Amino acid sequence: MKSSTTKFALVTGASHGLGNAFAHELARRGINLILTSLPGEGLHETAQDIIERYHVKVIFFETDLSVNENVLELAGRVNESYDVFMLINNAGLGGSRRFTDASSEYINTILQLNIVATSLLTHQLLPNLLKQHDSYVLNVSSMAAFTPIGYKTVYPASKSFLHSFSRGLYEELKGTGVFVSVVNPGAMKTSTEITSRIEKQGLLGRITLLDPVKVARKCINGLFKKDTVIMVNPYSWLLMSLLPIWIKMPLMTNVVRRELNV
Ligand SMILES: NC(=O)c1ccc[n+]([C@@H]2O[C@H](COP(=O)([O-])OP(=O)(O)OC[C@H]3O[C@@H](n4cnc5c(N)ncnc54)[C@H](OP(=O)(O)O)[C@@H]3O)[C@@H](O)[C@H]2O)c1
Repeated sequence: MKSSTTKFALVTGASHGLGNAFAHELARRGINLILTSLPGEGLHETAQDIIERYHVKVIFFETDLSVNENVLELAGRVNESYDVFMLINNAGLGGSRRFTDASSEYINTILQLNIVATSLLTHQLLPNLLKQHDSYVLNVSSMAAFTPIGYKTVYPASKSFLHSFSRGLYEELKGTGVFVSVVNPGAMKTSTEITSRIEKQGLLGRITLLDPVKVARKCINGLFKKDTVIMVNPYSWLLMSLLPIWIKMPLMTNVVRRELNV
């Protein structure tokens, strides 16, 4: 049974990194949360910590969003019991390796999580979002959306999809109460694996590094101001916009080659 006054923001991938920073930023503003993560990532403790610190309601679901049925089941349970006025599609995976060394499971998980889960969850929650007076969808893309990159291949392509998907949906839902935005962050020190990868990328990786707490704050400010494309690092954005593809594609591929030592 839904309570008519309690509204929630749903954040995917909320146990660590940027998703966790989103959860804290929203709770700090008094917003009730529905959080998701993979099982076994300590989401129960994260939820408890947020409840104690900010005195908001926190519901959580542990599920693998790279499996379609789990996405549909999650959406069904949320729609049945909660009013959602904000959806942050943050969960996403990437990595660096030769395409020929990647397993089919690795490729499939990136595509399922980054592309299919985001599209399906948004699609399934839209009737719920449309029922609210003002509601928001934020999709987490990447600076990698703006250039193909060798040794990453599937990840930048999936983030280009997310950018295009978000812009198209924004246009389609103009005039409804649902506002759709996309953020394209550069590298952030979120996990030890990502941090060690970025540190191997040399100067370019280090100087463009972002703090996930600041990124989350900027995103939520941007979302409430109705920025359609949220820019968290204007210098990287300018660089990526100005450089022609024949310069930025080999440049970025060389950065990743250095990280992989190939
Ligand atoms: N870090 C960067 O440098 C960077 C740069 C640009 C864009 N991004 C994007 O920012 C977002 C967050 O990245 P991050 O670096 O904070 O995360 P991360 O530490 O790389 O972890 C991956 C994220 O996806 C979730 N996740 C992974 N596999 C999942 C699965 N099968 N089912 C459900 N959730 C799954 C994780 O959630 P749980 O751990 O809570 O389960 C976590 O939030 C991603 O979309 C990423 O592509 C990151």
